Amino acid sequence: MSEERVKIGIEGLDQMMGGGLIPGNICAIIGTYGTGKTTFALEFIWEGLKKGENVIYISLEEREDRILRYMNDKGWDTTPYRGRALSVLKLDPSDFNLAINSIKNELPALVSQLGAQRVVIDPVSLFEDLFDRDSDRRREMFRFVDTLRDQRCTIVLTSETDKDNPFASRHNLIEYLADTVILLRYVRPSDLTDVHLALEVVKMRLSAHSREIKPYEIQQGQVLVYTEANVF
Ligand SMILES: Nc1ncnc2c1ncn2[C@@H]1O[C@H](COP(=O)(O)OP(=O)(O)OP(=O)(O)O)[C@@H](O)[C@H]1O
Ligand SMILES: [Mg+2]
Repeated sequence: MSEERVKIGIEGLDQMMGGGLIPGNICAIIGTYGTGKTTFALEFIWEGLKKGENVIYISLEEREDRILRYMNDKGWDTTPYRGRALSVLKLDPSDFNLAINSIKNELPALVSQLGAQRVVIDPVSLFEDLFDRDSDRRREMFRFVDTLRDQRCTIVLTSETDKDNPFASRHNLIEYLADTVILLRYVRPSDLTDVHLALEVVKMRLSAHSREIKPYEIQQGQVLVYTEANVF
């Protein structure tokens, strides 16, 4: 079964999802600052590159050179892929019209033009922030996700959490639109001696998946999921 899956490239996590993401699915990775959203998204991109796929990484936060440097720091040589299999694009979310236009209207064309099999938007919550009204955001995001579904690529959207609820995305929207939801969070024991990171696969449409909460660490930029361990 796992051959038909699109691996994120993080072993324990792929296992929890029955081998990986379902091809063509939209996956939301939701977490507070510093939980590793960008790191997870980069693993997904690198896994694709290693398999000879074309990938697009759209960053709303960090510049292209910094994204490439992160990858380099992890010991991944992106040189042979740059400008060919690997496209890293920085969008400026402060320019509302440009950002909306690029993501909404140009991304689908870009995906087919580049024959991208994997696409990341990191973080999609900055794109959602652009809408003043909830009703506009909801309508536009529904449309946007619908357009993405027509593409033959697997998509990872990262999102910051709601400021009052670490279990929900910033606008409480993307978890409903995505097919798969992975939640990253901090776990602080009551004695406050230590902080751990924990992840769970909250939802996976049309697929069995683990419902366990598993600890993970980021060491030298690599994600290690401890599937044998328990958080609680
Ligand atoms: N190369 C690295 N070496 C060691 N630790 C790292 C490395 N890269 C990331 N980390 C650790 O992983 C954490 C998460 O980083 P990452 O940028 O992926 O989080 P994020 O959820 O995208 O954060 P933000 O919401 O600020 O964008 C960092 O705070 C750091 O502790
Ligand atoms: Mg990030």
